[in-house]
Amino acid sequence: MPNVGTITRENSTTRRRLSTLARPFSTRKASPPTDTDPASASTNTPGTTTATKLIEVGIEKESFGNWPNSEGFDVFHDERTPIELRVTGSIPEYALGVLYRTGPGGYQIETASGTTVSMSHWFDAFAQVHRFNLVSPTKVLYNSRHTCDDLLLHVRETGQLPAGFSFGQRRDPCQSFFKKFVSLFEPRVDLVAGGVENASKVNCAVTISTNYPGLPDAPNASGAVKNLYNKTDATTLQALDPETLEPIGIANQVSLHPELKGPCSASHARSDPLTGDMFNYNLTLGKHPQYKIFQVSKVTGETTILATITDAPGAYIHSFFLTPRYVVLCVWGAYYAMGGLKMLYYKNVIEAIDVWDPKKQTMWYVIDRTEARRGVVSSHPCPPFFAFHSVNAWEEGSAVVAEVPVYENLDVIKKFYVENLKGDSKVAWTWAEKGRVKLTRWRMDTTVDGSEAEMVFELDKDSSMELPTMNPDFVTLPHRFTYGLLNRVKSTLLDGIVKFDSTTRTSLVWEVHGHTPGECIFVPDPQGTEEDDGVLLSVVLDGFAKKSYLLLLRAKDLVEVARAELDTAVAFAFHGRHVNGERSVEW
Ligand SMILES: [Fe+2]
Repeated sequence: MPNVGTITRENSTTRRRLSTLARPFSTRKASPPTDTDPASASTNTPGTTTATKLIEVGIEKESFGNWPNSEGFDVFHDERTPIELRVTGSIPEYALGVLYRTGPGGYQIETASGTTVSMSHWFDAFAQVHRFNLVSPTKVLYNSRHTCDDLLLHVRETGQLPAGFSFGQRRDPCQSFFKKFVSLFEPRVDLVAGGVENASKVNCAVTISTNYPGLPDAPNASGAVKNLYNKTDATTLQALDPETLEPIGIANQVSLHPELKGPCSASHARSDPLTGDMFNYNLTLGKHPQYKIFQVSKVTGETTILATITDAPGAYIHSFFLTPRYVVLCVWGAYYAMGGLKMLYYKNVIEAIDVWDPKKQTMWYVIDRTEARRGVVSSHPCPPFFAFHSVNAWEEGSAVVAEVPVYENLDVIKKFYVENLKGDSKVAWTWAEKGRVKLTRWRMDTTVDGSEAEMVFELDKDSSMELPTMNPDFVTLPHRFTYGLLNRVKSTLLDGIVKFDSTTRTSLVWEVHGHTPGECIFVPDPQGTEEDDGVLLSVVLDGFAKKSYLLLLRAKDLVEVARAELDTAVAFAFHGRHVNGERSVEW
């Protein structure tokens, strides 16, 4: 049976200043593989029973914790023509629509000369987009497509990766310095939506946006999704056909505004849930880094620069926060060394980031986004941390409250090299305990510039989540429930789905041994009266059967309501978006 239980947490301390994050946490010894009987790890859930395959010792590689997950990294399989999946249970009517997923779809390919080219970091694996079309309560169609065909062709033919920047791929730094400089700072290709000349040359699949304002719609778009854009932490956006997922164009943030010339941005743009306006930052590196915070109007498509931050170090910032009045940018401890100069040499983000400095405070910047008072209104230091994903922020009087899962150092970035993640990689076993997250909530007084951001609570590692999500109807408002994926060191990656109740400080968990869930997407019930009225959608890999399924859980109690099964594994994706109307809350 899946483990759906309640865990009481006692370590949350209200409004306690964070003093522990700067100290090293105690470490547990990595768990060796256990003798868990795979037969007991079946996918029994109310209403469904699916047998799992036994691991055949001597044929299968042994996996950490007897939790196989390598298939989710090393699958290179497209379904360009939609196929119908086997559905059990019943999908709620309100959840019908399309679920897009984007992320890496395999990290190594064979070349024409018989060699193998491998992307070493998970974030750099070859981009693939998935489309689950929830047609009726019992019918789901699925298609998928790699979105970097020309890149794959180039690598297959030449055995080389083209010049360009990556997240963590180590390169031979033999190209001329000047060439690297140009490729980083020269504004890139403007939008050519409708054309395919450059569209599939990029590897750009971290987040995915629907109906992005200010950018052209897809030529053949019909229905609710007018445009579909793949995004990453660089300023490139890749336009896709909303149905076939074929790349159809490339845009850059200079397409939105000529001042957005910097190379870095957040994969996670944020949109105002009421207006649909989109927000992000653009970072220019160099001796004097500049963050330009901007807004794209849903109505006019015009882009406005809200503020320019010049006193913060250039940093790798994957997401940020939005409240009804403010944009909140947290400059956390992943600072580019030498103003980003190292990126020009190494051509990847990881080697450009300076070593972790436990003394260098994290700094929050609060930017008023109202027309009457645009600009930075206050900044707030706090003890150092690193983070990938903001959860939510809202206003309480003159204070801003923000929720974010944090890391005590930068181990997690290096943990995401593929060989540090795959369950059957012995190297990964030594990384299993590292890079674990803690959910935190912070409060800052915007009337006192320079005042310290105070911690409201922090959650222990065993119940904290990565890839956090919540009811999108509560974005920018106080929310009670945070959902996400657990890492309790039962596997080398992720091992369960959690619902955290910040009021009772309790958690609810869904888990099946050997089944690795992907990011949850919350679809609210429009007839619902409570915050947790809705369902969670997650693409889960059954590591024993080497097959994936789309799982729908009732958010109230994490009980399965439906699943749609594939006969193949689906590569672990990073992020996704569910659409069943033109409204789409980006966060
Ligand atoms: Fe992300």
